[in-house]
Amino acid sequence: MGATRVPGLLFGGDYNPEQWPEEVWAEDVRLMAEAGVNMATVAVFSWSRLEPRPGVYDWGWLDRVLDLLHEHGIAADLATATATPPPWLVREHPEVMPVDAAGTRLEFGSRQGYCPSSPVFKEHAVRLARAVAERYKDHPALAMWHISNEYADHTLECFCPESARHFRTWLGKRYGSIEALNQAWGTSCWGQHYTSLDQVEPPRKAPGPVNPSQLVDWRRFCSDALLELFGAEKSVLREITPDIPVTTNFMSILHGLDYWKWAAEEDLVSDDAYPDPADPESHVAVALSYDLMRSLKRKPWLLLESAPSAVSWREVNVPKPPGMMRLHSLQALAHGSDGVMFFQWRQAAYGPEKFHSAMLPHGGTATRGWQDTLRLGRDLRDLAEIAGTTTKADVALILDWDSWWGLEAPESMPSNRLRLKELLLSWYAPLHARGVNVDLARPDEDLSGYRVVIAPNLYMCTAESLRTVTGQLVVGPFSGVVDPNDHVHPGGAPGPLADLLGIAVDEFWPLPDGATQETTAGTARTWAEWIRVQDAEVVATYQGGELDGLPAVTRKGNAYYVSCLLDDPTAILSIEGLDLPDGVEATRRENYLFLLNHATTPKKVILPAPGRDLLTQQDLEGEIEIAPRDAIVLKESSDTPVYP
Ligand code: GAL
Repeated sequence: MGATRVPGLLFGGDYNPEQWPEEVWAEDVRLMAEAGVNMATVAVFSWSRLEPRPGVYDWGWLDRVLDLLHEHGIAADLATATATPPPWLVREHPEVMPVDAAGTRLEFGSRQGYCPSSPVFKEHAVRLARAVAERYKDHPALAMWHISNEYADHTLECFCPESARHFRTWLGKRYGSIEALNQAWGTSCWGQHYTSLDQVEPPRKAPGPVNPSQLVDWRRFCSDALLELFGAEKSVLREITPDIPVTTNFMSILHGLDYWKWAAEEDLVSDDAYPDPADPESHVAVALSYDLMRSLKRKPWLLLESAPSAVSWREVNVPKPPGMMRLHSLQALAHGSDGVMFFQWRQAAYGPEKFHSAMLPHGGTATRGWQDTLRLGRDLRDLAEIAGTTTKADVALILDWDSWWGLEAPESMPSNRLRLKELLLSWYAPLHARGVNVDLARPDEDLSGYRVVIAPNLYMCTAESLRTVTGQLVVGPFSGVVDPNDHVHPGGAPGPLADLLGIAVDEFWPLPDGATQETTAGTARTWAEWIRVQDAEVVATYQGGELDGLPAVTRKGNAYYVSCLLDDPTAILSIEGLDLPDGVEATRRENYLFLLNHATTPKKVILPAPGRDLLTQQDLEGEIEIAPRDAIVLKESSDTPVYP
C-alpha cells in the first residue's frame, strides 16, 4: 500500500471533464476502468466553474464527476482549484495579478495569475479550499489533496507594492534591525546604506547589477512566500480532513523553490516530469530529478504528471516513439515512484494544450496512444507489489538551494557559465551509467550513513557543512566561497572547508567559452582554479596552458577537492558499479532490479543474481538480452539485494 489508500501502483492522469459535454463523461470513466486507471486528478483549474460569482458555488458538476469516478473504482486526487483565480476576482481586485521586474502588471487570460503575497488572493484561495474540503471531506472518491498546481511555473515572483511589504516583513524577521540588514547586504558597497526598512524594495530592474546579497534574500523570500500560500491552504485541509494526504506537484529540479523546505510540509512528494523525446540523453537528467524526489522524504513519491507522447510548449514538440512512454514510466517506478500519472486523460479539443498528447488521443481508441495506455495499465498491475518498497543508496550528492541561488546570481560572478545542474549531472551521469543508486542530500543533514558524499558545488558554505561525513568526501569547484550573506570567507575559498581539504584557492580561473583545459584526470571545461596545496596530496595536475603542472585534484585523508569541471570526475574515485552497455540503466528498489534499455538496439546484460521478470513472468539468470526500449523488472530470488 502506498501513500494513499489506493492499493498497488497509482495510474491515471489529469481529468478536465469541465472541458467536455456530460455525455462524454460516461465514456471517459468506462475507458478509464478498461485501462486500469485508479486515480484521476480533478478540478486543478476549476475555480471559475466552482465559484462563478463571489460566494456562489456550483458543485453539481463536480459532485457528478466524483460520483462517476467512484462508481468505476477510480479515486480522486482532488485539487483545491486555486491555480487560476476567476475573472471576477481579478476585476474586483486587479492587484491580485502579478507585476514583473519592469513594473508591468500582467493581464488575465492565461493561468496562475496571482501575486504570491496578495492577502486578497490568499484569503479567497483559503476560503475556496475550505469550501471544497467541507463539500468533499466524506466523499468516498477522495484519496489525496492536490494544492494549487506547479507553484512557480509561471509565477515565481511579483514586484508589486504588496510583495515589497511582504519582503520587508520577511527581512524584518530575519535581521531584526536595519543595521543587521546593512551588515548582511554589505550596503557600504556602492552607497546603499539604508536607515529604515521602508526604504528597501524588491530587486526590480535597476540601472546596473543589483546587490547580490539582496538577490539571494529575494530568492529565499520568493520560495518562502509561495510556501506560505501553500501552508495556508494546507492548514485548512489538515483541520477538515486530517487523514487525507496532501501534495502539490513539483517541477523536477527547480531553481526557484527550495524543495527540501517544501517537501517537509507535504505528506507525499509528487513530481511533474517532461523529458524531451528529441534529446537522446534526457533519461539521465530526469533520473537525477527522480532521485531528488525520492530523497526529499527518503520514501516513495509519485510521478503526478508526464506526457504520454508530445508536449505542446516546446518550440518543436517531438512525439515519443513506440516504447518510450512505457520505458519512461517504468523509469519513474525504478527511481521510487509509486505510480505513473499523466497530463492528461483526454486530449483537449481547444485551448493552449490542444496539441499536447493524452492517454486518450483525439483519434480515440483506434490510436497507437490508446494501445500504449492499455499496455501500461497491464504492466502496472503486474508490478503492483513494488508499491511502498524503498531504495538504499551508498552515494549521496549534495544539493543546496542557497548555494544554487548564490552561484547563479547574474552579473557579479567570475563566470556565469558555472551552472549547478551541469555540475550535478557531471557526477551523476557516470554513476548512473554504472547502475549506482544515488541519493540527493542536504549539506546540513547527518551524512554518516553514506560511503561516498559528493558536493558538486557548495558555493555558500557554513562551518558545519559536511562535518558528519565519515565516508569518502568529494568537494567540487568554487565551494566554501561565501557565508550565507554572500560575503567571501576570510582568507578566501574554500573557507570553512580549508582544514578538511588541506588546500587554498589562490585564484579562480574560469575558462573562456568553448575552451578546454587538459588534466591528468581528463579534460576540463568551463572552470579551473589555481590551487595552493597545504597538507593535501596531489591526485591530478593541470596539463598545458597557464596552469600547467599545478594541482587540479587533491586529497587529504578521505577528502578530495576537484577544482574544475571534468568530463567524468568519478574516474578519480573507486566506486563499484555494474558493467552496463551504453544506454542501459539499472536501478534498485529493495530486491527488485530494474533494467531499462534506452537504446534503439538490443543490449546484453549479465544479471548480478537470478530472479523472475515481473513483466513477462520469466525466470532469468546469467546473460540476458533486452530488446530496444524494453525493460526487465527482476525480482531477485535472494532477499538480500546486491547493491552495486
Ligand atoms: C504542466 C502543468 C499541466 C499541463 C502540463 C503540460 O506544467 O502542470 O497543467 O499544462 O504542464 O505539459
